[in-house]
This record gives sequence, structure tokens and C-alpha cells, in this order.
Amino acid sequence: MALERESALAYASASQEDTERLGELVAPALADGDVLVLTGGLGVGKTHFTKGVARGLGDDHPVTSPTFALMAVHDGGRIPLFHFDLYRLEHAYELEDTGIFDVLGYEGACLLEWGEQFQDELTDEFLGVVIERMGETTRRITLEPHGSRAEALAQAIDDAVSQNIEGK
Ligand SMILES: Nc1ncnc2c1ncn2[C@@H]1O[C@H](COP(=O)(O)OP(=O)(O)OP(=O)(O)O)[C@@H](O)[C@H]1O
Ligand SMILES: [Mg+2]
Repeated sequence: MALERESALAYASASQEDTERLGELVAPALADGDVLVLTGGLGVGKTHFTKGVARGLGDDHPVTSPTFALMAVHDGGRIPLFHFDLYRLEHAYELEDTGIFDVLGYEGACLLEWGEQFQDELTDEFLGVVIERMGETTRRITLEPHGSRAEALAQAIDDAVSQNIEGK
């Protein structure tokens, strides 16, 4: 099985590699200021998706979970990628220390793990990437745009997926 397009904005991943591949297909559509909020339970594949995005942007450095650093910057690609993991953050006031307000919505592409808990403090213009665990290695990945830029981004991603994989 390979990455499949189930319907508009909904994809089926059968492996870690498929999820990374989707990230790679997302990368060319990204522009400075784009915000992706990656949603899904522990170990669902948010970091692997990010790995694919970094590779797709042309940054070959390893992507690991920035759980302890809270933020990792991958600036070896076409545009900078800011990878946040807000899992350990308990209070919204702690966001200030992560540096997120310096870049969110302005510079590079921001990918957030566990960002939905602070949705009110962050931005209301973002592309939700919802990853659901269907089985041991199967995932459904759905794009949920919020705002007009996110709508356009989701459409560009969907076009890229349609053109690059088998399926509908
Ligand atoms: N289809 C799939 N897509 C992504 N990862 C998968 C898939 N199938 C199995 N996996 C495995 O699931 C795990 C996903 O780990 P990853 O660190 O990407 O998750 P995460 O959502 O970032 O977790 P956390 O919430 O702890 O940050 C890896 O061990 C990966 O090999
Ligand atoms: Mg992670």
C-alpha cells in the first residue's frame, strides 16, 4: 500500500514513509507566514510528517521531536521551517519564552505539535493537519483550513497530491 487520496483533503497513509511523503508533497506549497497545526495523539506521526516537510524544503538535517527544546529551526531549505512541540507547556503565558510570537505568521513556515491547546493565544489563520490512527501503521490525514490563505494552501497541497500519487 502507498499513500492514497481518499477524497478531497483526506489521505490514507499506510506507513511512516507515506506520512513523510505527504510532508514532502506539502513543502513546495508552503510560503513565509504559513502555520500548520498538527493534531493527533501521542505517537501518531506528527514528527514524521514534519521530517518529510523539512526534506521537501531541501533541508537534509535530521528532524527529531523538539520536546525538550520546544522549538527547532531547520533553515537549510527553500524557506525556514520552525518546528514547535508545545506538549510540555502547561500555561499560555509560557508561550512567550518559546519565541513563537517572533515568527508565527511572519517568517518561514511554522509547524506546531500540540498547538491546538493554545489556539486562542496563537493564530486563527492556520491549516489544521489532523492525523488519526486507524490501525498499527495506518493513518488518516485530513487537512482542515482556517482562513483564506489556509484554504488556498490546502487546495495547492491537494493538487500536488493528486498529481503525484495514484488514486482519485
Ligand atoms: N503511517 C504512519 N505514519 C507515521 N508514523 C507511523 C505510521 N505507522 C507507524 N508509525 C510510527 O509511529 C511513530 C510516530 O512517531 P512520531 O514521533 O512521528 O509521532 P508524534 O505524533 O510526533 O508523537 P508525539 O506526540 O510523541 O510527538 C513512529 O514510531 C513511526 O514509525
Ligand atoms: Mg512529535
